[in-house]
Amino acid sequence: MSRTVYYTGTSLDGFIATVDHSLDWLVSRDNDPDGAMGYDGFIAGVGAVAMGATTYTWVRDHDPGWVPEGPTWVFTHRDLPALPGADLRFTAADVAQVHAEMVAAAGGKDVYVVGGGDLAGQFADLGLLDEVVVAIAPVTLGAGAPLLPRRVELEVLECARNGEFVCVRYAVRRTPTAA
Ligand SMILES: NC(=O)c1ccc[n+]([C@@H]2O[C@H](COP(=O)([O-])OP(=O)(O)OC[C@H]3O[C@@H](n4cnc5c(N)ncnc54)[C@H](OP(=O)(O)O)[C@@H]3O)[C@@H](O)[C@H]2O)c1
Repeated sequence: MSRTVYYTGTSLDGFIATVDHSLDWLVSRDNDPDGAMGYDGFIAGVGAVAMGATTYTWVRDHDPGWVPEGPTWVFTHRDLPALPGADLRFTAADVAQVHAEMVAAAGGKDVYVVGGGDLAGQFADLGLLDEVVVAIAPVTLGAGAPLLPRRVELEVLECARNGEFVCVRYAVRRTPTAA
């Protein structure tokens, strides 16, 4: 069954990018993509991808070869330039409706929420986020793009060390809506 997973690198103090959207503090560190909770094992199970406009713009400008092979939904209200060769769908549609399309497209594989944090939070708000997986870099940034700017209750499912990172996989706890 398809899970919807927010999988990301983060600083110890809960930022996924610096204020000026640099990832130097993250991508420069030792990490084995084939190792514990590594990217290669994760992406092999992914069938559809979601990301916000800032994340997409960063990828397009800094690492255009990175976009995964499967269908990728980019949430934006703007007319952003496409990346040649990538299977992209730009959308500002209702998040629940897009999620249903993503689950169908994923064909039983997982839905990967790349970020940013508020987009992951929008999935969580709708009860559509199943897991949060973080690789915690040994650094604090003090400010930046937030990991998950919501209160979301989590349960630890797995933890491991991978290179310089501590990796934790959490299940999102669904709390009943107050009457
Ligand atoms: N550490 C990591 O592993 C990691 C992972 C992912 C991202 N990042 C970085 O973290 C930063 C995240 O940036 P960010 O916080 O600005 O988040 P973001 O989600 O990448 O971009 C936010 C933008 O997405 C659009 N958007 C969000 N929700 C939408 C919705 N429901 N409908 C339509 N459009 C929507 C809006 O742009 P419009 O103005 O176009 O509507 C919004 O301003 C970036 O620098 C990225 O590179 C790091």
